[in-house]
Amino acid sequence: MRMKARYRLAIFASGGGSNASCIINYFKSHNRIEIVLVVSNNSSAGVLTMAKSNHISTKVITRSALNDQDSTLSLLATHDVDFIILAGFLLLMPPYLVAKYTSKIINIHPSLLPKYGGKGMYGHFVHEAVKNAGDKESGCTIHLVNEHFDEGEILKQVSCEILPSDTPTQIGESVLKLEHAHYAPTIEEYIMSW
Ligand code: GRF
Repeated sequence: MRMKARYRLAIFASGGGSNASCIINYFKSHNRIEIVLVVSNNSSAGVLTMAKSNHISTKVITRSALNDQDSTLSLLATHDVDFIILAGFLLLMPPYLVAKYTSKIINIHPSLLPKYGGKGMYGHFVHEAVKNAGDKESGCTIHLVNEHFDEGEILKQVSCEILPSDTPTQIGESVLKLEHAHYAPTIEEYIMSW
């Protein structure tokens, strides 16, 4: 992709959408990066409401629609999407999408990868595992996406201390604060370096 004056991003999110909300707010008046589409596999995801109130197009898709190359690529082409941002999106990116958007799909994971990544390692499961291992720190990892869960090139890791008294819920809260502070600026820095 040649350097463009403006880059158009789609956010894919399944759940609470707090990272997606931070990203939407961060880029609201950015002069070179625009959120143009929010995709969810969950029709009640809060981020869909937030997107609509910010005049961003939304689309609810099923797993089989995501795996349908023609329909997903045509959705992304219709909105002229340059980069895909995963923010708590639980479905695996299909190989055709990774091939079409190589190095242009970014994810955030709530652990210091490669620790506590892979299939089934999401949300509370991650923080329970960190607690059970007795780790003294955790954090988040922002990385490029390939065909495997949580394995692409790491763009940024940020860590936080864990106190012996911290519960998995408290660990999750500390990590989520880091995610909110670092995801959007890291996306910006990466895309501006294209
Ligand atoms: C975050 O912890 C993120 O690291 C992971 O999914 C969670 C999404 O949280 N990939 P939210 O929906 O953004 O609140």
